[in-house]
Amino acid sequence: MRLSSLSPFVLAVAFIPHTYAWGTVGHEVVATLAQMHLHPSVMPKLCAILDYDGECHLAPVATWADRIRREAKYRWTGPLHYINAVDDYPSATCAFPGPRGWQGRTHINVLNGIRNTTTVLQEFEGRRASASVPSDDSNDDTDVPGYVQDALKFLIHFVGDMHMPLHLTGRNRGGNGDKVAFDGRTTNLHSVWDSLLISERLRTLPRNYTHPLPLPDVEAYLRGTIYDPYIRRLVWEGLLGRWQDEQDTWLICPTSDSSTRPSSPSPQRQHQFASTWQSVLSLFNLASARTSTGQGEGDDGLGVDDDILCPYAWAKPIQQLNCEFIFPKELDDFVPPHRSFDLGDEECACGDDEDALTALARKRKQSPYLELYTPDYAGMIKEQWIVEKLLTQAGTRLAAVLNWIFAELDEDESRSGCLTL
Ligand SMILES: *[C@@H]1O[C@H](CO)[C@@H](O)[C@H](O)[C@H]1NC(C)=O
Ligand SMILES: *[C@@H]1O[C@H](CO)[C@@H](O)[C@H](O)[C@H]1NC(C)=O
Repeated sequence: MRLSSLSPFVLAVAFIPHTYAWGTVGHEVVATLAQMHLHPSVMPKLCAILDYDGECHLAPVATWADRIRREAKYRWTGPLHYINAVDDYPSATCAFPGPRGWQGRTHINVLNGIRNTTTVLQEFEGRRASASVPSDDSNDDTDVPGYVQDALKFLIHFVGDMHMPLHLTGRNRGGNGDKVAFDGRTTNLHSVWDSLLISERLRTLPRNYTHPLPLPDVEAYLRGTIYDPYIRRLVWEGLLGRWQDEQDTWLICPTSDSSTRPSSPSPQRQHQFASTWQSVLSLFNLASARTSTGQGEGDDGLGVDDDILCPYAWAKPIQQLNCEFIFPKELDDFVPPHRSFDLGDEECACGDDEDALTALARKRKQSPYLELYTPDYAGMIKEQWIVEKLLTQAGTRLAAVLNWIFAELDEDESRSGCLTL
């Protein structure tokens, strides 16, 4: 399907009110990028856990955690989507956590959620491996408990949530309560970051990404969605372009011995996308060979970080973005004109009796709130590829965690994994 034929749909997407972290597109992009980076031995195991018949992808389960969170059985998981420090109030103060610690119940937050689900999956994989089931039968013979399947779906989702900066601040429920205007329309800051910035990208992508890339290892993972061209661009201009020298560093944990850090990207990665998983893997491979210092309750008071997996350390610079520019200072000084009226929750007026464009035109003139569709805000974020980098970091880290838990390396790979460093 061509993007052009879908543009009315893409436009409509922008009008769907979102209350969850990264809209569907964001989470599915993260899952798809992760899948591209998996070691070949990993995906069959994930598909067995997810109990897929037919073609197996991670993207379709990436928003499952949002869909079920209102169900009685899963209501307790709501706070697992975010983490808030008591003293955090961007842009005035960014505390992570600051002197008074975290809000809510300890260990029920997105960073502990990542650690917890990782542990569940590791233990499951450990049991599976030691049950000495012949590997070609393992998919059929292993009974996968429901909580293991849940853990995998939660992990795929939480790594995405962790890279959505507004899931790391409690101010007005992560910006859900901060009304702003975007292209003249009243919305809230959270929705801008969930979906409006991404929808704008999909509408304005260069045409050349509607065609397949000359990279079969990328194309194989695309499913004919409206965001395929976006993913192509993230790979082509991002992973093989501006972040080529940087991607490995996204996996570094501060406790890692600095002498083992890659000082430069392995030369064979140049335009060889297929080998990217090797580099995502090699760092983990090496790290897990060293004696882990183990988890402890560090400064963060969470005990979620170790040498290999460090969601707190990864989240810290992301949370800083809230103070740097995500909550503009003007937001607090802004006084809406008196004549304003509140569109409230009726953000999606694109129902039967009013088409989306009419609604847009009507609202253009009306939103009294601080406009963020400006060169200084949305323009700067676009220029610097901020959203794109967060999504790509999330995909890379998710792949690394899954490779670390599930990959089975043959001897050559284990060796070369170490040698490339
Ligand atoms: C994960 O969290 C649940 C709920 O807090 C807890 O019951 C369980 O023991 C945790 N599992 C691991 C492996 O941390
Ligand atoms: C698409 O066009 C942009 C310039 O607009 C260019 O930088 C990029 O390399 C092109 N991508 C492909 C896959 O040709």
